Amino acid sequence: MTDLSTERLASALGTRRHEFYAEITSTNDRAQVLLNENAPNGTVIIADSQTRGRGRLGRVWLSPAGSSLMLSYLLRPPVTSIGHVGMIGALAVAETLDAMGIKEVGIKWPNDVQIGKRKVCGVLPEVVWQGDQLIGVILGIGINVRVDFTTSALAETAISLSNVIPQVDRLDLLLQLLHKLDIWSAAAGSTDVFAAWHSRLNMLNAPVNVVSITANTQEMLSGVAQEVTPEGALMIRTPDGGVHRVIAGDIALG
Ligand code: BTN
Repeated sequence: MTDLSTERLASALGTRRHEFYAEITSTNDRAQVLLNENAPNGTVIIADSQTRGRGRLGRVWLSPAGSSLMLSYLLRPPVTSIGHVGMIGALAVAETLDAMGIKEVGIKWPNDVQIGKRKVCGVLPEVVWQGDQLIGVILGIGINVRVDFTTSALAETAISLSNVIPQVDRLDLLLQLLHKLDIWSAAAGSTDVFAAWHSRLNMLNAPVNVVSITANTQEMLSGVAQEVTPEGALMIRTPDGGVHRVIAGDIALG
């Protein structure tokens, strides 16, 4: 029996608006349609496999069917707090993994959830506007549940829950995660979100290599990850004493 099915989800999720797809292009695509159709906050789209899963920075997110928990969650935070949405996703996942007894759970800027120093979850917030009016934010989350990375290029940098705990039921994982998402999304805009997220960052004061990406440029920086600001910008101190503000990009430990 598969651990994710229309029937199991319907009986576990009760009145929460949700949709389940054995296959879809991207749960974030479907979430955008539902957001525009005024679906309630907390609506969740779940898929067993995606044909055009998206990752950060225009990357693809690939995951074999049956191996991950992939979902999109709808929120309508105040416009001043849209920067909190990615933090909410990473925080909710990190707390869910803690509650399952998993050790060494941390967040790598901007919002990768790691076990040890390996990525177990990616978070992709997408903001939906109509002109200058905020419609809402889609919080896309992909958790490696039983992806086998042993022969992949990601063998050293990625991990699945199945590598650290014997059995994971994706429905149980989803229910625990939704509980945390509901709590943290109600707190969007409060300083508690940043404080809780910041306390879980696992790369502060470490030497890092960073690709800093802006609309027109890509710059490589090597230095120490000095701080992350409440707006989510990473501050890098380079050996010449300069401090650089990185809004978007990727880091690798130096
Ligand atoms: C990252 O690059 O780390 C973010 C990955 C986010 C993947 C999830 S899977 C569910 C949702 N739908 C998508 O197309 N992407 C996100």
